[in-house]
Amino acid sequence: MKTLIVYDSYFGNTEQIARAIAAAFDPGECLGVIRVDEVVPEQLAAADLLIAGSPTRAFRPSDGTRAFLKNLPAGALAGRSVAAFDTRLDAEQAPSALLKFLVKLFGYAAKPIAGGLAKKGGRVVAEPEGFLVDGSEGPLREGELERAENWARSVRAAAAG
Ligand SMILES: Cc1cc2nc3c(=O)[nH]c(=O)nc-3n(C[C@H](O)[C@H](O)[C@H](O)COP(=O)(O)O)c2cc1C
Repeated sequence: MKTLIVYDSYFGNTEQIARAIAAAFDPGECLGVIRVDEVVPEQLAAADLLIAGSPTRAFRPSDGTRAFLKNLPAGALAGRSVAAFDTRLDAEQAPSALLKFLVKLFGYAAKPIAGGLAKKGGRVVAEPEGFLVDGSEGPLREGELERAENWARSVRAAAAG
């Protein structure tokens, strides 16, 4: 199954997760791990499965990720499987009760990314997933790279099934 992994990243954490996700696919299956602003239409056209991820910024996907989703032509993902992920802070460790409340209220990037992919015709094959960073610029929490690779295996199986 030809798979394209698209990500945005400011500090490198989401890029690391995207590369861990790629490790779950055979090299011949993976069309690339491409930054949102570098994706070309031919890459999308060749993909059976698109996995897209972004850092959570102010409770939503990054500007680049939102632009990528918005600029996808209507129906661009018809017939394709899609899945979304993000990186995020652990709400349980938010420095204030207000912030914890806001995080729980407004959520994270992965769900709106999945919604954006579905809006362009994609078939969402997995629950949106979040991977934790320990500070606002990272690093990734221990074990998250392995969890990302395992999540990608389940996405791959769901897309194939
Ligand atoms: C300006 C800014 C806003 C952020 N907003 C959120 C947020 O709303 N929710 C959250 O869980 N993490 C938030 N974070 C933490 C980011 O999710 C974290 O920087 C990101 O996971 C790092 O990924 P990257 O290295 O790929 O950029 C924010 C970080 C910054 C710098």
